[in-house]
Amino acid sequence: MAFLGKVVLITGASSGIGAATAIHLSHLGASLSLTGRNLKNLEKIADQCHKERKPFLITGELTNEDDTKNILESTIKHFGKLDILINNAGTIERGSIENTSLDQYDRVFNLNVRSMYQLTMLAVPHLIKTKGNVVNVSSVNGLRSFPGVLAYCMSKSAVDQFTRCTAIELGSKQVRVNAVNPGVVITNLHERSGMSPEELSAFFERSKTTHALGRPGQADEVAKTIAFLASDDASNITGATLPVDGGRHALCPR
Ligand SMILES: *[C@@H]1O[C@H](CO)[C@@H](O)[C@H](O)[C@H]1NC(C)=O
Ligand SMILES: *[C@@H]1O[C@H](CO)[C@@H](O)[C@H](O)[C@H]1NC(C)=O
Ligand SMILES: *[C@@H]1O[C@H](CO)[C@@H](O)[C@H](O)[C@H]1NC(C)=O
Repeated sequence: MAFLGKVVLITGASSGIGAATAIHLSHLGASLSLTGRNLKNLEKIADQCHKERKPFLITGELTNEDDTKNILESTIKHFGKLDILINNAGTIERGSIENTSLDQYDRVFNLNVRSMYQLTMLAVPHLIKTKGNVVNVSSVNGLRSFPGVLAYCMSKSAVDQFTRCTAIELGSKQVRVNAVNPGVVITNLHERSGMSPEELSAFFERSKTTHALGRPGQADEVAKTIAFLASDDASNITGATLPVDGGRHALCPR
């Protein structure tokens, strides 16, 4: 019950890593504010949370500044405080320097970087009051370079740098900021990037060689690492970008 009495706001909570994190933290005692674009999908996740702690659900489009403001304000209005912000919402699109577009760059950066920037900015005064913390969901693509997902890789490097910069800016106020950097995780993120079912199964199959542990990851493995960084067990960790990627970040072609 490490999170009993803690208010946790999770973005992108209706699927994948966000949903797994919501369910895990709920069973560790957290009071949750969950955001996503679709209420029905959020309700499905809320149903899997602890029965005595029904999450507060709020829909919105994080790339819409007013929606983002509303997400933070309603959370504070509902719970009266915020202890932990989990910036999880994100998107991936395929495109190399030869076939990307400025529209693609804007879509990816607006969600993966700009909306997080805004939400964190709004959350920080509340986190200072509670000596709370932030966990950002980045990617191995922030730490290493991959072809064919240019805007995504750049956006995740920005998340990593933002994590370190804000960690040192907020350190004296006892607010910690960390990120997790998952490798390939079995979620619907990849499907949404436009991969066909055949491409998708080839991609997951190839993960057996691109990850040292010989397999892609599971969302709940990332959720448990997020829970660790968000908990008092990580009281002396800030500015960290922690790979949860079966060793992928350490692998080089040979
Ligand atoms: C984009 O260009 C890269 C090479 O730079 C290529 O590998 C990839 O297949 C192209 N994608 C599309 C959708 O044309
Ligand atoms: C997490 O990363 C986002 C995007 O780069 C940034 O806006 C946010 O401030 C970071 N978290 C914290 C607490 O800095
Ligand atoms: C955190 O780590 C630093 C560096 O090792 C150490 O000086 C400090 O005492 C630690 N703080 C706590 C609360 O353990």
